[in-house]
Amino acid sequence: FNVPKAVNEPVKTYAPGTPERAELKKQIEELRSQELDIPMFIGGQEIRTDNKKRIHPPHDINHTLGYYHQGDETHVHMAIDAALKAREKWAALSWEHRASIFLKAADLLAGPYRQVLNAATLLGQSKTAFQAEIDSACELADFLRFNVQYMTEIYSEQPASSPGVWNRLEYRPLEGFVFALTPFNFTAIAGNLQTSPAMMGNVTVWKPSKTAVYSAYFLMKLFQEAGVPDGVINLVFASGPVAADVVFNHPDFAGFHFTGSTGVFQNTWKTIGENIHKYKTYPRIVGETGGKDYILAHKSCDAAAVATAITRGAFEFQGQKCSAASRAYLPSSRWAEIRELVHEDLQHLKMGPPEDFSNFMTAVIDEASFDKLATFIDAAKDSPEAEIIEGGGYDKTEGYFIQPTIILTTNPRYITMEEELFGPVLTIYVYDDTKFEETMDILDSTSMYALTGAIFSQDRYIIDQATKRLVHSAGNFYINDKPTGAVVGQQPFGGSRGSGTNDKAGSKINLMRWVSPRTIKETF
Ligand code: ALA
Repeated sequence: FNVPKAVNEPVKTYAPGTPERAELKKQIEELRSQELDIPMFIGGQEIRTDNKKRIHPPHDINHTLGYYHQGDETHVHMAIDAALKAREKWAALSWEHRASIFLKAADLLAGPYRQVLNAATLLGQSKTAFQAEIDSACELADFLRFNVQYMTEIYSEQPASSPGVWNRLEYRPLEGFVFALTPFNFTAIAGNLQTSPAMMGNVTVWKPSKTAVYSAYFLMKLFQEAGVPDGVINLVFASGPVAADVVFNHPDFAGFHFTGSTGVFQNTWKTIGENIHKYKTYPRIVGETGGKDYILAHKSCDAAAVATAITRGAFEFQGQKCSAASRAYLPSSRWAEIRELVHEDLQHLKMGPPEDFSNFMTAVIDEASFDKLATFIDAAKDSPEAEIIEGGGYDKTEGYFIQPTIILTTNPRYITMEEELFGPVLTIYVYDDTKFEETMDILDSTSMYALTGAIFSQDRYIIDQATKRLVHSAGNFYINDKPTGAVVGQQPFGGSRGSGTNDKAGSKINLMRWVSPRTIKETF
């Protein structure tokens, strides 16, 4: 099929003097100067309630960006009904028409919507301009364009036939609706979680994280302008338990597309299991959850590369990427050198509001996250097994600011080597150079997660050994690079073990989960 070839959307730099910098600044000012009234979108209708919730930037908690209308179980039912009403017509539309809508969405996103979505992500989720750009502009445009390309590959894959017999696979959408529960940390993931099922002919009920409603609103506007028909994607704001109660008891529930915490995912899986007899079909469960992503350096490493991976991998977007480095195993013979380089780097990194483009880090997402991180930092200050060697400060007077923090531990199984904190806190364990193999085994058995990991070495035998020995420790494994920043179409993203079902976001594997193929054999 002759669809436009997917290429990655070029990343704009926002360097001083660039036109994109001026445009984004203007857009930020415009959004800051108004208070938006954000409705739900159900069946193409804007739905408002009496229950309005305030939205504020995590880095500027006294400023009001707007209000959203919180729904209840009635609205979740309405969203399911609207989705089911739209289903037949959407599923019957040929895939080329669906693809066209999402290609148009990608072009709108890369063009007229780029700065409004970047500004909304920057303000609502506290991302720097660059972090917003690689997320809400580039990654989402990439998801849309590459997924359209994968659609064409899927629809063209057919079984063999023989003389007198014509075999066909009909890639039907699922029999029901898909529930997309989306996270705060990537606007692109929020967009992908319902567009990928929708591309394959499904209808969705979308409940975003309450801390990312602001950018979700602009995404919904984008989908409408691109031509997604009414009822195909329904945006509903209800509490998690209320939405779950309605969705997971509904006979037409057919798929769950999730990115978020491990606890929510595991509980949901149990609920779905308990309700399995209620559904018309076995629901597809696709989820990406947490990580305890690692950096492992061998004595043969390039120390500067390790230091850069630490500062960028652990602290960009305040360590709130599911892929962020949060534990590091460093060889004793290289430790002093790496420590010095990291310390140097951190001296130059500024933290503050993202409206000031010179800041490298801003605030964490909310008070609950801030308090959790502060508790772990305080515990490390008091622990005989840990020492804070960088940062350790926090302040929530203006916004939820946590300094980039490094904990050095003498215990490779210290609590912050094991538990996901989801913030700018990295824990380092320095191992005896002669215990590289033992350290790999400790690394592999310390955490329940297996999302991303990175090995640093200049020795090909060591790289080979680590790649083999750590085979199940990460779904995305990086050699001599930081464990964040997977690019759609180049490094399909997802983890196993406690980190999710590993149905690789932005891949054919993911799209295949949203179809229920029918085999047709015709005999002449
Ligand atoms: N896909 C995002 C990354 O790789 C989470 O950093």
